[in-house]
Amino acid sequence: MSSSDRKEILVVGGTGAQGLPVVKALSASTTYTARVLTRDTSSSRAKQLATLPNVTLIQGTQESEADLHRAFKGVYGAWVNLDGFILGEMKELYFGFRAYEIARHEGVKHYVWANTDYALRIGGWNEEFHWGHNDAKGRVGDFILAQDQKTMAATLFTTGPYMDMLLDGMFMPEEGEDGSLVWENPAENGKIPLIALDDVGVYVKWIFDHPKRSTGINLEVATEQISFSEIASAFEKVTGRKGFHRRISFDEYFPKREPYPNAPANWANNDGTPTTMTWRQNFTAWWKFWGKGLGANRDMALLDEIHPARIKSVEEWMRKVDYQGGKRGTVLKDVEDMVARVQARKGRI
Ligand SMILES: NC(=O)c1ccc[n+]([C@@H]2O[C@H](COP(=O)([O-])OP(=O)(O)OC[C@H]3O[C@@H](n4cnc5c(N)ncnc54)[C@H](OP(=O)(O)O)[C@@H]3O)[C@@H](O)[C@H]2O)c1
Repeated sequence: MSSSDRKEILVVGGTGAQGLPVVKALSASTTYTARVLTRDTSSSRAKQLATLPNVTLIQGTQESEADLHRAFKGVYGAWVNLDGFILGEMKELYFGFRAYEIARHEGVKHYVWANTDYALRIGGWNEEFHWGHNDAKGRVGDFILAQDQKTMAATLFTTGPYMDMLLDGMFMPEEGEDGSLVWENPAENGKIPLIALDDVGVYVKWIFDHPKRSTGINLEVATEQISFSEIASAFEKVTGRKGFHRRISFDEYFPKREPYPNAPANWANNDGTPTTMTWRQNFTAWWKFWGKGLGANRDMALLDEIHPARIKSVEEWMRKVDYQGGKRGTVLKDVEDMVARVQARKGRI
């Protein structure tokens, strides 16, 4: 198939942890090309993507309606992952609605919203389970599915926490002197729908390949629904080293894990954009919801059917990545950027 016969897909958030496998799957396909929206076409991740076949970059921001019009113009489809850790809840809501509306105006044929569990609704409207970075996406997701599908098909692609955050981010363990790993966090022992990012591209390509089945649905993905004590057991089985989950109080946890003191929920933002919550408030609800197992609702049989070769478990994933523990700044671009900013600041002192 020549490149002019391929369908072009706009990928918003394509340089990010979740977007990279989407771009790679489209690039490797025989049917699609990827147009990646990025703020910085000279970042190392953007430059790497630009070397792949069938990938182009478009410079712009999720926070500009003019940039969104330019980005959506002329594409067949779009996969849109707004970044709540930059935008904050209010801006993510606004641009979430606007991105959908602008895509319709520009004549996009298939719109895929990178969604998250609408925890406040799933939790019975109990404010205990309200946090900004999931509920903003979840509200927009409900709005999108409520619209007609006549001129633009729409699909929600819902991910829970990334399994890869065992390498970088919220699920990084600490290593004891004897080589054991301890996951110290406030999670109860409910099952959490962890998704291995390596499989994300296959699911997203399936959505575009099968519009008859995927139009109007919410495809909720996971690799395994698993509790923290089971994660620790998987680690023991894979490595022969000891692994523990130690549940600690929120007061013990937050001072150790905040990205920086008094961080706002949109902790990765660098220009002071206000948000609705502090990082602590945001992640208190986050830990409560996942730790109680309220997100463990995935249809694993459907996922097996869509992607028979998918990674099936944390244990399989740990073997695949040769899991030994975590390292900050290797998975999430926002964390990588923050670490680089801190190092640059230190270099100037
Ligand atoms: N961590 C998890 O377990 C998890 C699970 C489910 C959902 N999510 C959601 O995923 C989102 C973050 O995506 P990610 O996990 O892929 O994070 P990431 O690796 O930190 O990547 C962030 C992405 O957002 C892009 N971005 C940020 N601000 C932008 C702006 N103003 N304009 C254009 N692009 C912008 C970045 O692109 P450039 O820097 O190239 O511009 C990059 O592609 C968050 O909303 C989070 O809630 C996270």
